[in-house]
Amino acid sequence: MDFNLLTYQTLDSTNEEAVRLYQKGELTVPTVIIANYQSEGKGYGSNFWESAAGKNLTFSITCFPKFIEPSDQFVLTQITSLSLLEVVSEVIRDKQVTIKWPNDLYVADKKIAGVLIRNFVKSNEIDFSVIGVGLNVNQKIFHSDAPNPTSLFIETGQTFRTEEVLTKILQRFSAYMNNLTNQAQRDSINLQYVKNLYRLEQPNRFKDKEGIFTAKIVGIDEFGQLKLVSDDGCERVYGFKEVEFLQD
Ligand code: BTN
Repeated sequence: MDFNLLTYQTLDSTNEEAVRLYQKGELTVPTVIIANYQSEGKGYGSNFWESAAGKNLTFSITCFPKFIEPSDQFVLTQITSLSLLEVVSEVIRDKQVTIKWPNDLYVADKKIAGVLIRNFVKSNEIDFSVIGVGLNVNQKIFHSDAPNPTSLFIETGQTFRTEEVLTKILQRFSAYMNNLTNQAQRDSINLQYVKNLYRLEQPNRFKDKEGIFTAKIVGIDEFGQLKLVSDDGCERVYGFKEVEFLQD
């Protein structure tokens, strides 16, 4: 998959710009929208995504993945997380890089990247997908109340060319996309994704609407929901935001 690149100095949010262009009918080919600075970068829920001007990668991959069934849309989360994981772990070799379900990228216990995906479903197909990625590259100090941010610079002491990092991420993402119709490839994506989950198979405290409990992550179901096995041996399955991971 080849991408058209649209680079802006400043945008409110690359995800918002992607949706505006799509709604005006101005996006017809896979396009990556990049901003040097976002004045209203969106995180999950009502969170703000902090990123100092020119220091990091904030971009949205847009594509028309009509061949992905809406019920399989989690695969987009998986391939984005895996592309980020592969690029970041090539650079950070002395610490564990993992995917905190569903799609945060962690270096040990700190968050280095976040992903925000919005899919537009029409006539039971994914008509359009916006995959927003924020990867902290060269930022040294974070000011927002995000609990545990880190960056490639903080982890390695090196400065990176953001465009080179972006090229690597897009190469990996494209390679995954080009092979998605292949079931063996889908199985391998699932395996890789689960294998690289943050705190997989380790006892951890979680909180759901009933309260706090200890459980282990054992995998995901076919919709990408998190499967936990609690202390009492019960399996529990959660959708996003139905369960909260409590740090020790
Ligand atoms: C999260 O809360 O972890 C998701 C963060 C996603 C941030 C990226 S930055 C590029 C794109 N545009 C946005 O406004 N948000 C996403």
